[in-house]
Order: sequence, then structure tokens, then C-alpha cells
Amino acid sequence: MKIGIVIGSVRDGRFGEGVGQWVTEAAQKREAATYEVLDLKEFNVPLLTSATVPGAANKQYDDENVTAWSQAVDSCDGFVFITPEYNHGVPGAMKNAYDSLGMEWWGKPVAFVSYGAAEGVRAVESWRQIVGNFQQYDVRNQVTLSIFNDVDDNGFAPQERRAGELDTMLGDLEKLVAQLAK
Ligand SMILES: Cc1cc2nc3c(=O)[nH]c(=O)nc-3n(C[C@H](O)[C@H](O)[C@H](O)COP(=O)(O)O)c2cc1C
Repeated sequence: MKIGIVIGSVRDGRFGEGVGQWVTEAAQKREAATYEVLDLKEFNVPLLTSATVPGAANKQYDDENVTAWSQAVDSCDGFVFITPEYNHGVPGAMKNAYDSLGMEWWGKPVAFVSYGAAEGVRAVESWRQIVGNFQQYDVRNQVTLSIFNDVDDNGFAPQERRAGELDTMLGDLEKLVAQLAK
């Protein structure tokens, strides 16, 4: 079982980088799954302009960056989406990367780690609706992080209870992926 950790912010100096490291360190200690980081900043997925609707593209794309992104997503059985909240919704670059693919997502479970001034809960509510289009099963438990309370003088520093919340959520995700594989 391979699970992709999608780091959804591509901004310079992003808060999401620290969150991504924390999630990755915890995930890679787990035994039931292999976790791989899919950092959107590295994939550099272009704005979707192709005439072919990605859902009908049969995983074939003209752009090499989209092809690399497609192959990375396709190789995973499930995902952890690490998402900031921008203007009470999902971040544009991450939505564009999601929209740029099609059947690579189909039926694969997804769990959410969110962050923001309001812990990103509105972004996750929006993601839950979006991922329904590719029949992705969303894990109910989520980890929500505050850019005010999960920090110290050096930046991201999760409160003590967050590690347990993350472990519970990853366990739920792994169980769901395993059940669907039967
Ligand atoms: C375009 C933009 C819109 C934002 N809108 C919200 C918002 O609606 N709710 C919120 O809690 N934080 C909002 N924020 C603050 C972000 O939570 C904060 O900047 C966070 O660090 C963004 O994640 P990133 O640094 O990983 O990109 C916004 C930030 C940006 C850049």
C-alpha cells in the first residue's frame, strides 16, 4: 500500500512546508503503508488549458510536468492532502493540480491535514465535495492546525495532542485503503 502526501501550497516561505515535514516524519514511522511526498511546488503543474478534459484523457497528456504529476498520483493507492485555506476555500494551485488529472484519482481514499487562521476547516469541507467527483472516499477524522496556536518562535510547532490526532487519522486511512483493495 502506497500513500501520497500531497503538499498543497506552492508559495515561497509557505507554512505548509513545516506541516509537510511533520506529517511525513510521522507517516514514515508507520508500518502498514509506504508514504511518499508529492510536493506540488516541485511538480510545477501548469494552469489547465488543454482542450481535452482530463477525465477523458486516458492518463495521456501533452505537457511533461502534467505527465510526471499523473504518474506520481497514479502510483498511489490513497492520499493525505495537506491543504491551506485561501479565502474560505481550497488553494487555487492545488485545485488546478487536482483538476489537471482524471482517472488517476478514481476511487482512492483521501484524508486531510488543514491549517490556517481558522485551522483550514472550510477548505476541507470544500475538498470533501470536490473529491466526490472521482468517487474518492474521504476519511472523517482530520487534523486541523492553527497558524497561531501550533507555532513557536521558530515557526510551525504542533501542540502535543496533534501527534495522536495524526496517528488516528492515518490509521483510519490505511484501514480504508486496505478494505477497498479486497
Ligand atoms: C490568498 C490567501 C488567502 C487566505 N485566506 C485565508 C482564509 O480564508 N482563512 C484562513 O484561515 N487563512 C487564510 N489565509 C492565511 C493562511 O492561512 C496563511 O497565510 C497560511 O500560512 C497559508 O498557507 P501557506 O503559507 O502554506 O501557503 C490566506 C492566505 C492567503 C495567501
